[in-house]
Amino acid sequence: MRSYKLIAPAKINLYLEIIGDRSDGYHELVMILQSIDLADEIEIHSLSSETIHVHCNHPQVPTDKSNLVYRAAELMVKRFPEAFTKHGGVDITVHKHIPVAAGLAGGSTNAAAVLVGIDLLWNLGLTQTEIEELGSTLGSDVPFCVAGGTVIATGRGEQLSPLPSLDHIYIVLGKYRSLEVSTAWAYKNYRQEYGSTYLRDTNDLASRAAAVHSGGIVKAIVEKDAVAIAQKLHNDLEKVVLPSYSQVLHLRELFASQPGVIGTMMSGSGPSVFALCTSQEQAEKIQQQVRQTIPDEDLELFVTRTITHGIQVVGNG
Ligand code: C5P
Repeated sequence: MRSYKLIAPAKINLYLEIIGDRSDGYHELVMILQSIDLADEIEIHSLSSETIHVHCNHPQVPTDKSNLVYRAAELMVKRFPEAFTKHGGVDITVHKHIPVAAGLAGGSTNAAAVLVGIDLLWNLGLTQTEIEELGSTLGSDVPFCVAGGTVIATGRGEQLSPLPSLDHIYIVLGKYRSLEVSTAWAYKNYRQEYGSTYLRDTNDLASRAAAVHSGGIVKAIVEKDAVAIAQKLHNDLEKVVLPSYSQVLHLRELFASQPGVIGTMMSGSGPSVFALCTSQEQAEKIQQQVRQTIPDEDLELFVTRTITHGIQVVGNG
């Protein structure tokens, strides 16, 4: 039986701007997505029987069809039925380190790893673009998770253009274990409150150029100026999530008040919040300081950093 072990990194949003309505019910976005070294491990083994099995060490993660990992394997079975018959089923184990339901693309990066792993297990020889296209049918963040790095994402988040990579910016990240924010809820609320400001025709290039404000942060990324990047962090979904989740707002304010923090923001639809720091040493100090101020065990705190890759294969058997 063959097997592969893969590393699946989380992402943060350095930028998330909602610019319009889409006819498919999603929102037209401009995002800057950044991989971080907080990652899950995925092991995929081939099985002699034509079945899909999913295991996970985290009690909150389902192992049935509601898990994106299961749906990724099922998608491969549907798209490549002959390979499934020839090579057999898959047994997938997810070792979770990324907080779940956190706005860190934990489920999406796991699904991306499954697509990459099954491509290898079944000798399909798919291109990165083909894997990303398969991923886009599973979720808006899955295509980004395949190759990761620093990317500007448009459309519903699946159209990707690479930016110069940002390595070694240190980050403190916090997430309350018991808090979950539904992404659909966050977008729906945003639409209700701010929908009147949307672009109606997202293909109108002139109005689109006027609506998009990511130029400043893109320039800062191109110049690799961490302080300028930190000053230009932006997330429209904060406008609806922070007023409803006081703990998230409080954590964000606490991060912002720490010496050595150059910028702070909520990631995706939350509830995780991150702070960009001047050095690893500062990030570790800030983690300790925040832990002393909020001794609540429910708050998970991580020191992590920006990385330049997405899914990595680290072993095979
Ligand atoms: O694509 P994904 O399944 O991750 O999206 C989760 C939910 O977030 C969608 O069902 C939709 O309500 C919302 N969403 C959106 N516009 C996007 C991406 C996500 O409205 N561009």
